Amino acid sequence: MTRDHDARETDSADEQPAPAADGEPPVATDGGAEDVDRSDDAAAAGADDVALDPWGSSTVSDYRKLFEEFGIEEFDDVLPAVPNPHYLMRRGVIFGHRDYDPVAEALREGEDAAVLSGFMPTGDPHIGHKLVFDEIIWHQEQGADAYGLIADLEAHAARGMTWSEIDEHARDYLLSLLALGFDPAEGELYRQSDNRELQDLAFELGSKANFSEFQGIYGFDGETNVSHMQSVVTQMADILYPQLEEPKPTVIPVGPDQDPHVRFARDLAARMRFFKVTEAFASFELTDAERALVAAVHDEREAYAEDPARPRCEEAGAWLADADRATLDGLGVVVADDVRDSAVEKLGNAGMEPLRPRVRFLDLNATDDAFEALVEAVDGEKRRYDEHVDAFDLDAEAAEALAREVELDHGGYGFVPPSSIYHRFMTGLTGGKMSSSIPASHISLLDDPEEGYDKVKAATTGGRDTAEEQRELGGRADECPVYELYAYLLAGDDDEFAKEVYDECVGGERLCGGCKEQAAELMREFLADHQEKRAEAEAVLEDLDISLESPRRGVAPGDD
Ligand code: TRP
Ligand code: SF4
Repeated sequence: MTRDHDARETDSADEQPAPAADGEPPVATDGGAEDVDRSDDAAAAGADDVALDPWGSSTVSDYRKLFEEFGIEEFDDVLPAVPNPHYLMRRGVIFGHRDYDPVAEALREGEDAAVLSGFMPTGDPHIGHKLVFDEIIWHQEQGADAYGLIADLEAHAARGMTWSEIDEHARDYLLSLLALGFDPAEGELYRQSDNRELQDLAFELGSKANFSEFQGIYGFDGETNVSHMQSVVTQMADILYPQLEEPKPTVIPVGPDQDPHVRFARDLAARMRFFKVTEAFASFELTDAERALVAAVHDEREAYAEDPARPRCEEAGAWLADADRATLDGLGVVVADDVRDSAVEKLGNAGMEPLRPRVRFLDLNATDDAFEALVEAVDGEKRRYDEHVDAFDLDAEAAEALAREVELDHGGYGFVPPSSIYHRFMTGLTGGKMSSSIPASHISLLDDPEEGYDKVKAATTGGRDTAEEQRELGGRADECPVYELYAYLLAGDDDEFAKEVYDECVGGERLCGGCKEQAAELMREFLADHQEKRAEAEAVLEDLDISLESPRRGVAPGDD
C-alpha cells in the first residue's frame, strides 16, 4: 500500500484533539453525535426518517432510532465475544445486529454456523457492495458455511430488470465476490431462479404468511404484482436455506433497509416449528410481561402461602391484588397496572391449582406421532394436556434441544431463528447518498482505475474553506466522504493508518488536497488489483455450477 507522506502537511501545531473515546478511528455517522441533542426535532420529524423500506432509497438519517424503534442491538455490545473481529466491526461500520451472539459463540467454539447474503443484479457492483462481500468472506474464513446468491427473481419482479440485463450484472457480482476471496469450493453460489430446493422452501414458508402481513410490513397493496410477493417468500427461503440440511446459527449481513425481511424471516422460522417452548407456572397461558411478574410473585411465596412448598394460584393472586407500591417495587420487575390486573385475574380463576414453575411444549405444527414421541421423551415428572405438555424437571435449554431433536426426527426443519448484522451506508462522494444511479456518487468495482482516481479527487470533503482555517480548526473527518473511504476500504486492516488519517485531519495537520491525492492513489491501486483478480476469477466462474445465461423469457414488469 502506498503511503504518500509528501501529501501531508507537517507544519501544524503538535497538539491534537483526542479521537473517539475508545481510541478507534470513528466513522462518519450521517449526523450521529449532533442528533443526541436534537431529540425534539428528531421526534417531530417522525418515524418517516427511519422507515425501513427494502425497496425505497437507502439512507438512514438517525441510526440511534434504529435501536430505539426497531430493537436493533448495538454491535459494540457483542464485539468482545467475536473472535478476530473484522475491521468493519472494529471501526463501527458494522453498527448493529439482531441476535448475533449464537453466531459469535459458534465461531468461537468452532461449531457449525453459516453466513448468507444476496445481491439484486440491478447495476454494477460498487464499493458499498464490497462491504457485504467482505462480511461474507470473513465469516467463511472464520469457519462458517458461506452462501452468496443472486436475487434475480427480485430484480425482475420488483425492479423491472430484463433477463439479459440481469445476466450481465449477475456475472459481475459473482466475479467481484470471487476476486475478493470467496472460496467456491467451500461455499455455495446460486441464482434464485434456478434453485429448485429454494423454491420448494419458499412455497412452504408462503403457507405461513398472509397478504395482510405483506401490507403491514412492506406496504403492498392491490396494485403490487404477484411476482413481487413471490420474491419476498423467496428471500425468506434464502435466509433459511443454509439450514436446510441441519439447523445452525446463521447470520445475514445486510444494510438496515433489509431489517423488515430479517424480522419476518425470524417470525416465519418460529411459525414453522413443531413446538414452541415457553415457561409457565400453572395450566393457563401467560404473556411475556405477565410471566415475568408471576415468576417474581412465585419467589415471594413465603409471604402468602399456607404451605410454601405448595403455593396456590389463588393465594398468589390475592397477595398480588393487595400488594402496596413498596412491595411491588421490591419485586424487581416493572409492573404495569394492566399486566398486574390480568395476572391477578388469571391466578384467581385457577383457584386451588398449585403455582409451580415448569417448561411447556406447545404444539404448533407437530404431527400426532411427533407429539407422542415428545411426551415419551420428556424425562421426569410431566403432565400432558390436549395441546401441550408440561415438564417439571427440565430446564429451558434442555427443553429447546429436546423439541428440536423430536422435530428433526419427524421430518421438521427445526429452524434456529436467523441472526443479522447491519452496516452503515456509505456517504456518496458528492455528498448525500451513495446511489447506483448517480455515477459520480459511487465508485463501481468496474470503474477504470483512472476514473476511480478522478472521482476521489473530485469528492466533497469535510475540509475548511482555507488551508489556514484548516490548520487552526482541524478538518471534519466525521463528515468527510474521503475519510469514509479510508475507514471503510482504503486503510484495509490497518487500524493505525486509519487512526493516523483521522488524528491528522482533526488536528489540522492534514490538508484536503494531499489527503485526497493519497486516497485517490490508493483507490487507483485497489481498482487495478481488484480488476486483475476479477480477470483471474473468470476461469473459476466458468467451472462453477451456476448458469450465467438465463433460459427465461418474459417481459419485465414495472418497478413497484
Ligand atoms: N433484497 C436484497 C436486496 O435488495 C437481496 C436479497 C435477496 C437478500 N435475498 C436475500 C439479501 C437474502 C440478504 C439475504 O439487496
Ligand atoms: Fe477529509 Fe482528508 Fe480533508 Fe480531513 S483532510 S476533511 S479526511 S479530505
